[in-house]
Amino acid sequence: MRNLQTTSVAPVAKDMPLAGKIPVVSPLARVKDLNVQFRSRDATVHAVNGVSFDLMPRDVLCIIGESGSGKSVTMKSMMRLLPPKKTVMTGEIEVNGHKVLDLSERQIRHLRGAEISMIFQEPMTALDPVYTIGRQITEAIRAHEPVTTSEARRRALELLELVRIPSAVSRLDAYPHELSGGLRQRAMIAVALSCKPKLLLADEPTTALDATVQIQVLVLLRQLQDELGMGVIFVTHDIGVAAQIADKIAVMYAGEIVEFGSARDVLVNPAHPYTRAMLASTVHGQARDADLPVIPGDPADLRRLVAGCRFAPRCGVSKSLCLERAPSLVGVAAHHDAACHLINSLT
Ligand SMILES: Nc1ncnc2c1ncn2[C@@H]1O[C@H](COP(=O)(O)OP(=O)(O)OP(=O)(O)O)[C@@H](O)[C@H]1O
Ligand SMILES: [Mg+2]
Repeated sequence: MRNLQTTSVAPVAKDMPLAGKIPVVSPLARVKDLNVQFRSRDATVHAVNGVSFDLMPRDVLCIIGESGSGKSVTMKSMMRLLPPKKTVMTGEIEVNGHKVLDLSERQIRHLRGAEISMIFQEPMTALDPVYTIGRQITEAIRAHEPVTTSEARRRALELLELVRIPSAVSRLDAYPHELSGGLRQRAMIAVALSCKPKLLLADEPTTALDATVQIQVLVLLRQLQDELGMGVIFVTHDIGVAAQIADKIAVMYAGEIVEFGSARDVLVNPAHPYTRAMLASTVHGQARDADLPVIPGDPADLRRLVAGCRFAPRCGVSKSLCLERAPSLVGVAAHHDAACHLINSLT
């Protein structure tokens, strides 16, 4: 399987002796051949199928794809948040050198927050309604670091200021329901950043917000990513959002990555018929409010995976080969890959 986003070479400082000393930057996160199935008595849902990608430090990767394509399951796998009893996971997930699937419960709890953190679409799923914002942040800090209550409160205040919450001192003692949707979202980001994670997973964090607040939160996230030097994986339905925030884009369909590349390559020269179909109805310049357009046909049934390309039944250009054999990701340009048998014949 082709490795998406190969190891890159860091820029060379002026005073650095050159020959043989160019430092190689390792990925911050690496997902390799991830498969996730949910088993119940009646059926097995093949939610994620052979997903592989690397995320370099400070990169923002956007995952786009229609509902049920496996975006959230991929994110939750990286946090190991899926119900263990009914989930079967295979493959490898590495975050900052830690093999996530091999860690004990205690180790994974430590990793969450300290090195990898997640923000969700709906802040109330992450914020506890019965505790003040300040208490939730200080507890998150104290769960990972041996600091006094007053030091944790000082840091909590800094975090509320970092996420640009106005009148931060008074908000420390506010309960989540006392904040507006936009401020709640900022408070959730503050909780997620409380232990300075190296990797932030954001699962549709702006979808529930109105357009103006959505832009403010996106700008904030991009600034924080830059200031704190985090890697970010950002799930969105909105191609306009991806165009604004992404360095790289992964397109998912039926639990697989069907296209991966720089945001520019994927948006300007989409190679996979699914990506093309999505982009075809997104008018340039009006992309901000454009949810993924509906593509005719039914989404793949993840309980019964077909033999060939999973998009073939809905694809306008498929051939008999597409129904027989599943395509692998192949390079369409440097660092731009797509999984389609017809890549070379499409123009
Ligand atoms: N805990 C679970 N048990 C059983 N099936 C699940 C579970 N979580 C997700 N699934 C199934 O896995 C598939 C992928 O779901 P996932 O939540 O990753 O989709 P998604 O791409 O995030 O969609 P959306 O854009 O609607 O959020 C879906 O068919 C979903 O029903
Ligand atoms: Mg989801």
